[in-house]
Amino acid sequence: MSEILQLRNVTIPTFDQKAIIVDDVSFDVKEKSIHAVIGPNGSGKSTLAYSIMGLPTYKISKGTIIFDGKDVTELGVTERAKMGITLAWQEPARIDGLSVLKYIALGIKDKTNLKEKAVEALNTVNMNPDKYLDRFVDDSLSGGERKRIELAAAIAMRPRLIILDEPTAGLDLIVIEDFLNIFNKIKALDMTILLITHREDIGMIADYATLLWGGEAVRTDTFPEVMLRYCAKAGLREFCKRTLFQEEEACFGEDYIDKIFREEQSK
Ligand SMILES: Nc1ncnc2c1ncn2[C@@H]1O[C@H](COP(=O)(O)OP(=O)(O)OP(=O)(O)O)[C@@H](O)[C@H]1O
Ligand SMILES: [Mg+2]
Repeated sequence: MSEILQLRNVTIPTFDQKAIIVDDVSFDVKEKSIHAVIGPNGSGKSTLAYSIMGLPTYKISKGTIIFDGKDVTELGVTERAKMGITLAWQEPARIDGLSVLKYIALGIKDKTNLKEKAVEALNTVNMNPDKYLDRFVDDSLSGGERKRIELAAAIAMRPRLIILDEPTAGLDLIVIEDFLNIFNKIKALDMTILLITHREDIGMIADYATLLWGGEAVRTDTFPEVMLRYCAKAGLREFCKRTLFQEEEACFGEDYIDKIFREEQSK
């Protein structure tokens, strides 16, 4: 598997340049993988996501972003989108007066068979097209429905890299399982997913993960290894054992968990 995205020493200041939000971050994302980015509130996850998309508010002051082997650091959001990067927002858009069909169609380059493409995208996110195509993208949709439509619009663009910022935030437990199925469907369409998430049950679907902590990337590894460092840094021993490392399907033995906790806490 080759790398679709390579971040090298990426540093992102605040818009007023007074502080650093993301500090010297380097990691690789393998093509056609699900790569999770985890970390506490305010650790810089969304900032990094917007910066990879090329949004001007989050311009990097140092470092390099390489997409598909090409240096895209100086390219804007439109050029990066054309190359195959797309982002689904943490807070989905509300565009009054636009039908779901038209909203999804906005991002589709080849305007032939638009309806079929929109239907396919809705099916991928497990939404009934007959029920939703003519609805409006406004407050009459529930938060969960808007999230799915946002995802459908992103999928319809057929990007090579799809950045999902907290795609399951605000969703209930019942649909979480459904989203895991959707992520696997996206992966099966040969897209790479950069998955920003707080949830360990969602992260478990990832092939790899990176932990952001205070704006720094402290580890990139398999998800359980990264989650273990997260718990250790945060001192969440009970949470760690209760959730990620339950006896029945333990990822690690007790001794290993103790060792990592000691290591992280002595840093
Ligand atoms: N213009 C600014 N001035 C000062 N601080 C800023 C500015 N813009 C962003 N920040 C800070 O940068 C930090 C990183 O924000 P970011 O939204 O990237 O975090 P996050 O990891 O996505 O958090 P969450 O899990 O809550 O979504 C936050 O503490 C935020 O307050
Ligand atoms: Mg965020």
